[in-house]
Amino acid sequence: MTAYADFYQRSIAQPEAFWKEQAGLIEWFKQPEQICDYSNPPFANWYKGGTTNLCHNAVDRHLKDRANQPAVVFVSTETNTEKTYNFRQLHTEVQCMAAILQEMGVQKGDRVLIYMPMIAEALFAMLACARIGAIHSVVFGGFASGSLASRIDDAAPRVVITADAGSRAGKIVPYTPLLKEAVALAATKPESILIIDRGLSTIDLGALRAVDYTAARQKHLNSEVPCAHLDATDISYTLYTSGTTGKPKGVQRDTGGYAVALAASMKYIFDCKPGQVYFATSDIGWVVGHSYIVYGPLIAGMTTLFYEGTPVRGMDGSADGGIWWSLVEKYKVTHMFSAPTAIRVLKKQDPAYLTKYDLSSLQALFLAGEPVDEPTARWIAAGINKPVIDNYWQTETGWPILATANGGGLSGFKPQFGSPGVPMYGYKLKLVHESTGEELKGHGEKGVVVIEGPLPPGAMQTVWGDDARFVNTYWKSIPGQMVYSTFDWGIRDANGYFTILGRTDDVINVAGHRLGTREIEESIAAHPNVAEVAVVGVADQLKGQVAMAFAVAKDASKLGDANERLKLEGEIMKLVDGNLGAVARPSRVYFVTLLPKTRSGKLLRRAIQAICEGRDTGDLATLDDPAPLLQIKELVSVK
Ligand code: PRX
Repeated sequence: MTAYADFYQRSIAQPEAFWKEQAGLIEWFKQPEQICDYSNPPFANWYKGGTTNLCHNAVDRHLKDRANQPAVVFVSTETNTEKTYNFRQLHTEVQCMAAILQEMGVQKGDRVLIYMPMIAEALFAMLACARIGAIHSVVFGGFASGSLASRIDDAAPRVVITADAGSRAGKIVPYTPLLKEAVALAATKPESILIIDRGLSTIDLGALRAVDYTAARQKHLNSEVPCAHLDATDISYTLYTSGTTGKPKGVQRDTGGYAVALAASMKYIFDCKPGQVYFATSDIGWVVGHSYIVYGPLIAGMTTLFYEGTPVRGMDGSADGGIWWSLVEKYKVTHMFSAPTAIRVLKKQDPAYLTKYDLSSLQALFLAGEPVDEPTARWIAAGINKPVIDNYWQTETGWPILATANGGGLSGFKPQFGSPGVPMYGYKLKLVHESTGEELKGHGEKGVVVIEGPLPPGAMQTVWGDDARFVNTYWKSIPGQMVYSTFDWGIRDANGYFTILGRTDDVINVAGHRLGTREIEESIAAHPNVAEVAVVGVADQLKGQVAMAFAVAKDASKLGDANERLKLEGEIMKLVDGNLGAVARPSRVYFVTLLPKTRSGKLLRRAIQAICEGRDTGDLATLDDPAPLLQIKELVSVK
């Protein structure tokens, strides 16, 4: 046993030796010459001179020892499908997809945008890109045409891969009309679309050049496409995430550092072994999907359970709050990873579901993505009688920043309710004062969670196409020093355990989905009768947070009438649905005469949020005009 404190200390004091050792967890075509080049901070180049491939480590590497072991179990409760692919079959499918992409003209460094539901072909597509060195950019299938268009413009993909439709709780969501609209809106047009026809909906791509996957697959099923020998620092993917501005940021990730970071996290944090079964309930549109549905488990030689569906609907389409647990029993899942929101949904179900199935295979349930409220964590831990392990991280870091690592022979920090744990190896974490930047070393002091550079392997390299944005957004927000800001508030207890207290910026977290309030505001502001709007995140028992909008109408003459207000509110919600997707729809739109602002014109979001949550707004005396806040108070108190 190694004490985690020593392991951590070594990662900080001797990072080169530490990360050189971890590099041995993956296979290289050529060993790295330099572990970390940090000659141009804050840009870190990990494993310079080494060549490797994520797809080789996730697939080909396992052919020798586990070709017949299940690699991917695809389960869709939406289409009543269960299909298992062993590593050999996965190898075949991925090579086939890679050959199709090559025939469509995709080369190393080209972007491929993947706008797909949770079907196995989406995973093949990601691995196929990695195989040939194309950069994938997965866009969450729940996003609508406006979100998709801005991502197409930023990524400038040569090819878009999509399906005829997704399905959510039995409702078919046609994708092609949304894609067609997005391409029309975008200034940059993809050359062609690869379309997977599930037979759920009519394909409507207009004049866009489309390649049918079924036909192309037949042609290329026996194709052999070797893994490209990629530099460790070559880009593997970009993944868009929300920030303070309305324009989403393309978080850019490397190849070698990411592979090592994931392999190490599977061993030390998740305590995984080859042959075990990992079930992460997220979606490939989010970072958890990239790291712990697709790459992490496969790199570790595990089976990944790839799930399309909700937590409360069974294979035959009937209500079933035990569906996940039945899959744990059936496929002998050893590790489960979910989000607190999903557990809060399960909490509303009959607790008998938790004991109905044999969960003896399960080692632990990992939760991340949003703060886990203690009652929910305790409820599920007691219900399934397994350890519940909270872990805190971001799209930007790619793997946990805070957790409790008890795998790979480590010990010393047990999971504690109410805390995601302690800093993970490689992260030089500090709490600093928001405005002075002074380090807060005491216990119980609330500060901004920051990380000293270089960020460890696996973390973002930069913002795609915008190094200046990477530096200015993340590394210059704390006065007097260049440190990476997580934009999260945190607090540390006497034993070194942290608690995360929410974002310091305008990012909100709805049901584990990270959204920018500015994006929602921009979408609402496009309504012809909206002059100005503020969107804030408000605490919600089920979803963690929901978006609430406060709009000033251009013409308010009819808004004295409740029906007219409802009509306009409905129009605005529909606008957001069509532009960003239903995930971003505000739970309410209130109409106000003025928005509360400081003298210099800055919107008082924190005060609006406090009012909506029934908290104290602090001193309003500095305001020229407290009336707008008082109006909001009155509106939200009327149920
Ligand atoms: O505010 C933190 C919250 O989610 C943000 C990152 O979201 P995303 O980029 O979607 O990545 C999710 C990766 C799991 C963080 O800045 N967050 C994430 N995990 C936790 C959390 N807040 C509290 N506790 C957590 N365990």
